[in-house]
Amino acid sequence: MMEKIRVELTKNPKEKPHLDPLPFGKFFSDHMFLMNYTAGQGWHDARIVPYGPFTLDPSCMVFHYAQEIFEGLKAYRRADGSIWLFRPEENFKRMNNSAVRMSIPEIDVDFCVDAVRQLVALEKDWVPDQKGASLYIRPFIIATDCTVGVHASKTYIFCIILSPSGNYYPEGLDPVHIAIEDEDVRAVRGGTGFTKCGGNYAGSIRASERAEKLGYSQVLWLDGVHRKYIEEVGSMNIMFKIDGKIVTPMLQGSVLPGITRKSILEVARDWGYPVEERLISVDEVLETAANGHMEEMWGTGTAAVVSPVGHIYYEGRDLPIGDGGIGELTQRFYDELTGIQWGTRPDARGWTQKVCD
Ligand code: COI
Repeated sequence: MMEKIRVELTKNPKEKPHLDPLPFGKFFSDHMFLMNYTAGQGWHDARIVPYGPFTLDPSCMVFHYAQEIFEGLKAYRRADGSIWLFRPEENFKRMNNSAVRMSIPEIDVDFCVDAVRQLVALEKDWVPDQKGASLYIRPFIIATDCTVGVHASKTYIFCIILSPSGNYYPEGLDPVHIAIEDEDVRAVRGGTGFTKCGGNYAGSIRASERAEKLGYSQVLWLDGVHRKYIEEVGSMNIMFKIDGKIVTPMLQGSVLPGITRKSILEVARDWGYPVEERLISVDEVLETAANGHMEEMWGTGTAAVVSPVGHIYYEGRDLPIGDGGIGELTQRFYDELTGIQWGTRPDARGWTQKVCD
């Protein structure tokens, strides 16, 4: 059994941001959760302490070989002021899958959920009440051995920080424009694509910068072998409505198994839509977008929620999806998911849990 979490309160509480809209991931609350791992001893010294910088040796492994994983989930303030989480166990199950791939020691899922609950309850005044804003929760684990040899670290820090945040995309629910990347690749099967490790994201920045220069907010990745099949956007999984069916790339190890992805597919099946998790070639996307069979396209993610895609770019061509606006089903998914999260729609599947009033 894990130990009790020790709490040390800040003596210098910060000013809370009252911006509307709130930016994503720019402000951080007063406290953070920390825990250490030492080989032979296991995870120990769980504590909630004032938010502040780490002091780490420059030879620390995470700086050199990126032995690091992270997660992302949110706490929502409902109309009655109560604070809720959405499927937090799923995040920590996925964190453990990432941990196994990256040779990082796993952590008990229930303990992690309890740590989040205690931290969020302490920081409840940081959960924003602006429409659509929430408290973004960022758990992460870093390797802290001081050596430049490549091997699994014997020491780690597990940390959870909290950021009151608005929409991930400044577009909000307006459709985003994304560029299909044909040069860089994000992941290959057998690699780390299915994990949330920092390296997956570091390698994506160059293509994102290129896309931004062309006026597109994100990159849509193709598979690393054939450079032909659609994978994901990096900040979200991708879905299409083609001829009335919901189609999304199958999970083969190179795509992140998104919790929002899984939730939306479950809702879609419950609503009676045929769902196909399969290979989707870029040619199929371009063809169906051009001939009108592609009715809608949207991304799903914790940060991105359900995000309509209005235009795609590939090899010098820009194609609108439908009329370039928000698709009817995309809007319906957004309303259903955010309704469950904010408690304005029934949560028949038991996905949400109350943290505090
Ligand atoms: C999330 O959706 O929580 C993520 O971690 C994606 C990240 C790019 C913000």
